[in-house]
Amino acid sequence: MLFLRAIISVVALVAAEDGSQAWLRYAPVVQGEISTFSPTSIIALNTSEISPVYAARQELQKGIRGMLGVQLGFNSTKNASAIIVGTVEAYKAKYGDLGEQEQLVDDGFYLNSQGRNVLIIGQNERGALYGAFEYLSRLAQGNFGPVSSISNPHAPIRWANEWNNLDGTIERGYAGPSIFFEGGFVKENLTRVAEYARLLASVRINAVVVNNVNANPTLLSARNIEGLGRLADVMRPYGVQLGIALNFAAPQTFGQLDTFDPLDPKVDAWWGNNTDQIYARVPDMAGYLIKANSEGQPGPLTYNRTLAEGANMFARAVAKYGGVVMFRAFVYDNKLNPAIWKADRANAAFEFFRHLDGKFDENVVVQIKYGPIDFQVREPASPLFSALRQTNTAIELQITQEYLGHQTHLVYLSPLWKEILDFDLRADNKSSQVKDIVSGKRFKRSLGGFAGVVNVGTNTNWLGHHLAMSNLYAYGMMAWDPSVDPETILQDWARLTFGSDRAVLDTITSMSMSSWPAYENYTGNLGIQTLTDILYTHFGPNPASQDNNGWGQWTRANKKSLGMDRTVRNGTGNAGQYPPEIAQMYENTESTPDNLLLWFHHVPYTHRLKSGETVIQHFYDAHYAGAAVAQEFVKQWESLKGKIDEQRYQEVLFRQEFHAGHALVWRDSINQFYYNLSEIPDEAKRVGIHPFRFEAEKMTLSGYRPYAVNPFHTASGYTAVVTTSNSTVGTATVELTVESGVYDVAINYYDMDRGRSEYEVSVGNRTVGKWTGDLERRLGRATSVYLDGHSATRITFRGVEVRKGDVLKIVGKPDGIEPAPIDYVSLLPEGVVD
Ligand SMILES: *[C@@H]1O[C@H](CO)[C@@H](O)[C@H](O)[C@H]1NC(C)=O
Ligand SMILES: *[C@@H]1O[C@H](CO)[C@@H](O)[C@H](O)[C@H]1NC(C)=O
Ligand SMILES: *[C@@H]1O[C@H](CO)[C@@H](O)[C@H](O)[C@H]1NC(C)=O
Ligand SMILES: *[C@@H]1O[C@H](CO)[C@@H](O)[C@H](O)[C@H]1NC(C)=O
Ligand SMILES: *[C@@H]1O[C@H](CO)[C@@H](O)[C@H](O)[C@H]1NC(C)=O
Ligand SMILES: *[C@@H]1O[C@H](CO)[C@@H](O)[C@H](O)[C@H]1NC(C)=O
Ligand SMILES: *[C@@H]1O[C@H](CO)[C@@H](O)[C@H](O)[C@H]1NC(C)=O
Ligand SMILES: *[C@@H]1O[C@H](CO)[C@@H](O)[C@H](O)[C@H]1NC(C)=O
Ligand SMILES: *[C@@H]1O[C@H](CO)[C@@H](O)[C@H](O)[C@H]1NC(C)=O
Ligand SMILES: *[C@@H]1O[C@H](CO)[C@@H](O)[C@H](O)[C@H]1NC(C)=O
Ligand SMILES: *[C@@H]1O[C@H](CO)[C@@H](O)[C@H](O)[C@H]1NC(C)=O
Repeated sequence: MLFLRAIISVVALVAAEDGSQAWLRYAPVVQGEISTFSPTSIIALNTSEISPVYAARQELQKGIRGMLGVQLGFNSTKNASAIIVGTVEAYKAKYGDLGEQEQLVDDGFYLNSQGRNVLIIGQNERGALYGAFEYLSRLAQGNFGPVSSISNPHAPIRWANEWNNLDGTIERGYAGPSIFFEGGFVKENLTRVAEYARLLASVRINAVVVNNVNANPTLLSARNIEGLGRLADVMRPYGVQLGIALNFAAPQTFGQLDTFDPLDPKVDAWWGNNTDQIYARVPDMAGYLIKANSEGQPGPLTYNRTLAEGANMFARAVAKYGGVVMFRAFVYDNKLNPAIWKADRANAAFEFFRHLDGKFDENVVVQIKYGPIDFQVREPASPLFSALRQTNTAIELQITQEYLGHQTHLVYLSPLWKEILDFDLRADNKSSQVKDIVSGKRFKRSLGGFAGVVNVGTNTNWLGHHLAMSNLYAYGMMAWDPSVDPETILQDWARLTFGSDRAVLDTITSMSMSSWPAYENYTGNLGIQTLTDILYTHFGPNPASQDNNGWGQWTRANKKSLGMDRTVRNGTGNAGQYPPEIAQMYENTESTPDNLLLWFHHVPYTHRLKSGETVIQHFYDAHYAGAAVAQEFVKQWESLKGKIDEQRYQEVLFRQEFHAGHALVWRDSINQFYYNLSEIPDEAKRVGIHPFRFEAEKMTLSGYRPYAVNPFHTASGYTAVVTTSNSTVGTATVELTVESGVYDVAINYYDMDRGRSEYEVSVGNRTVGKWTGDLERRLGRATSVYLDGHSATRITFRGVEVRKGDVLKIVGKPDGIEPAPIDYVSLLPEGVVD
C-alpha cells in the first residue's frame, strides 16, 4: 500500500539534512527535562491504516524514537504510562468520561500530560493527529513539563491551493515541477504527495486544491478521476481532503454540450453527473474552487448570469456530499482604459460582489485576496471583507512568493498577513478585524477561513529555499490561531528546523523579521506596489510596466507626481468602499499612513511625509536602507557556519548571496527610474553616482560591444556589453587606478534563460575567479530571455589583492542565446557596497 511505502521512505530520509523533513526532523533532543518522559507505550484508539489516529500512532512512535531514542510499543501493561491517542468518542467508549471535551469543536484537540498517561484526544480523527503533532513539537523544543490544554481552530476552512497544471508545470511555482501531475495526468508515484500531506497535517491544513485555478477541463476525464481518487487515498490518512479547481466552460469544451450557461438545465445536470462520478471515487472530497470571469477565464457573465448564479450551480452539485464551493472574488476587467482617471481595478471585486451579498448558497465561500489588487508587497485589506455580511468569506494568501522574490529573496510573510488579519475595518463603527470576519464570527456565518497558495514542487526541500518554509509553517499556524505572534511562530519553526542553538535562533529571527520591511524598502514602498515587471515574470524591477496598459496596476507616475488617486473627492472613489471610519482615514493624505500614501493618493514627488522627508528622497533612502539590510543577511548567515549542517548552510548561503546582489539590482533600478523621471537628485548624492564602479561599456572591448539595455534602468549607466556574436569570445579590460590593497571584486552581469556563458576574471594576470551563467538551473525563479531586471545579478569575489595599475580582465564565452553579458565591475574597499 502506497501509504506504508511513504512512511518507510520518510524514515529512511531522517538522517539527511536536505530539508525534505522540514520541521518534522525529530532530531535527537538535548535540552529539557528528558528524564521526566515516562510513557512506555502508545495506545491508538483506531488501528485502521487509513485513520489519522493510526497515522498519529506511527508518527508518535517515529518521533519519539528519533528524538529520545526510545522505541515505544503499542501494547500497554496495565500499570505503566501510555500515550493514548484517539477521538473523544473512542476514548469515552473505552475509558468513560473525559470531562473536558465539551469545549472541543471539529478538528480541535485536548492534550493532557498531567496524569499517569498522556492523553491526545481529538474531537475528530484529524484533531487527534493534530494533537500528536503538537505533542511531538513540544518534545522537540524541549518542553517536557506537564500540559493540559484545549486547542480549537479559528476557522473551519484551512486550505492549501496548488496552481499545478496537468502537464506538470506550476503557475507561479519556484521549486521544480508538480508533485501531483505530469504529462496530462495524475502521477503514478505519489510518495511525495503523502509526505506533503503529512507536512500539511502537522500545521493543521485540512484540504488541498491540487490543480491550477486556471483549470484544465480534462481533469474530469475518467483516467484523471481515478487519479484524483489515488491522490485522495494517499492524503486521507493525514486528514487532508482533496479539492479541485474547475473550468467553467467544461460542459462545452470537454462535455460537448453547446453551452455552459449555468441556468441551462442540461448544464446543471452535466455538472451534477460529473460531480457524482468524482464523489463516487472520492466520497470525502472537500469541494471545488472556481475562478470565473477573471483574466480571460469563462464564467456566468458570458450568459448575463450573475456570479452567484454561477457559484450556486456548483454548490447544488456538491451540497448532498457536504462539499463546499470556494468562489474567487478575483474578478476584474483586465482591459481597463488607463486614460480614465477614475477607472480602478481595485474597485472591481467590491463592485462585482457587493450587490450579490446574501445571494450565495450556504455552502459557497467567497475567496478574497487579502488586498484589492494582487498580492503586492503592501496593500490595504480588501474592502470586500466588510461588504459581504450574509455570505461566507475566506482570505486568500500566498506562500509562494509571486511578487515577493520567487523564494530567492528571503521574505518572511507572517508579519504582512498579521497586519491584514488584525486590521479593523470598523463595519458599522464596530470592531471588525479581518480575522473575525473570515472566521464567520463578526457576521455570524457558519463557514469561512483561509486559502493559501503554496505551490510546492519536486525540489527536495519543497519550496526551493530552506528558509521559505517558515512561511508554510506560519500560514498553517496562523490559520489555526491568528492571534499568535509572527515572531513566536518563527522561533518554533526555527527550533524545529535547525535546533535550539541560541545564535542560530537569534540570527534567523533577526534576518526573517527584517526581511519583509527590507523587501518593501528596496522594491516598492509607500503603497506604490511591488514595482516588478507585471507583464512578464513578476520577479525583477520594471516600474514602467505598471502603467499605460489595461491591467490596472497603475502608479500614474509622471514627471511631477505619482500615486493612485483613490479618493472619493477627486479620484476613483475606492476609499469610499470602506466603512465610514476607514473611508475617512484613507480619504485624506494627513490621516493615511505613509506606508499606503501612494496607494490612495496622487502627490508630487516633493510631497512631505509625516517624517518630514519628501516622497522622492524617502524612495532613495529606503531603497538604500533595504538593500543594505539584504547585504547584512549574508554576513549574519555566515556567522552560523558550523552551527548548522553543512548542506543546508551552503544552500541557504547561495540564495542569500543571490538575494544580496539582486537587492542592489532593485535599489539601483528603481532609484534610476524615478531620478530619470523626476530629475530630482538624491540629497545624499548616491543615485547615479558610483565611484567604485567600472562600467563594462567604458572598458577596452574586444569581441564585446555596448548594448542599450531595456528597461534602461536595469543597467548601470543604462548600458551593458554583449559579445559581438554567439560564437565570439569577448574580452573587456580596464586599468585599475586605485590604491593598492585588498578589495572585494563584484561583477554585475545578466544570467538569462537557457544559455550557459562562461566567465573568467583576472587582476594583473592573477585569476580571481571563474563562473558559469547557469542560475536558471540552480534557482527556481522565473527566467528571462532578455537582459533586464530579472536576469541581472551579481557575483562577488572577496578579499582580492589589487596593485595600483593592475589590469582587470574579464573573458566571456557566450552560449546559445546568452551573449556573456556584463554590466559593470565594482571594486569595493572593506565596508563599501556599490
Ligand atoms: C477508524 O478509522 C476509520 C478511518 O478513518 C473510520 O472509518 C472508522 O470509523 C474509525 N473507527 C472508529 C471506531 O472510530
Ligand atoms: C501488541 O500490539 C500489536 C500491534 O498493535 C498487536 O498485533 C499484538 O497483538 C499486541 N500483543 C498483545 C499481547 O497485546
Ligand atoms: C517514488 O518516489 C519516491 C520519492 O521521490 C522515490 O523515493 C521512490 O523510489 C519512487 N518509487 C518508485 C516505485 O518509483
Ligand atoms: C454521466 O457521466 C458519465 C461519465 O462521464 C457518462 O458515462 C454518463 O453517460 C453520464 N450520464 C448522464 C446521465 O449524462
Ligand atoms: C446580455 O445583456 C446585454 C445587455 O442587456 C445584451 O446586449 C446581450 O445580448 C446579452 N447577452 C446575452 C448572451 O444574453
Ligand atoms: C484631481 O484629478 C485630476 C484628474 O481628473 C488630476 O489631474 C488632479 O491632479 C487631481 N487633483 C488633486 C488635487 O489630486
Ligand atoms: C460612524 O463613524 C462615522 C465616521 O467617524 C461617523 O460619521 C458616523 O456618525 C458613525 N456612525 C455611528 C452610527 O456612530
Ligand atoms: C526601511 O527604510 C526606512 C526609510 O529609509 C528606514 O527607516 C528603515 O530602517 C528601513 N528598514 C529596513 C528593514 O530596511
Ligand atoms: C533619462 O533617460 C534619458 C534616456 O534614456 C536621458 O536622455 C535623460 O538624460 C535621462 N534623464 C536623467 C535625469 O537622467
Ligand atoms: C600578463 O600576461 C601577458 C601575457 O601572458 C604579459 O604580456 C603581460 O606582461 C602580463 N602582465 C603582467 C602585469 O604581469
Ligand atoms: C548562434 O546563433 C545562431 C542563429 O541564431 C544559431 O543558429 C546557432 O545555433 C547559435 N550558435 C550557438 C553556438 O549557440
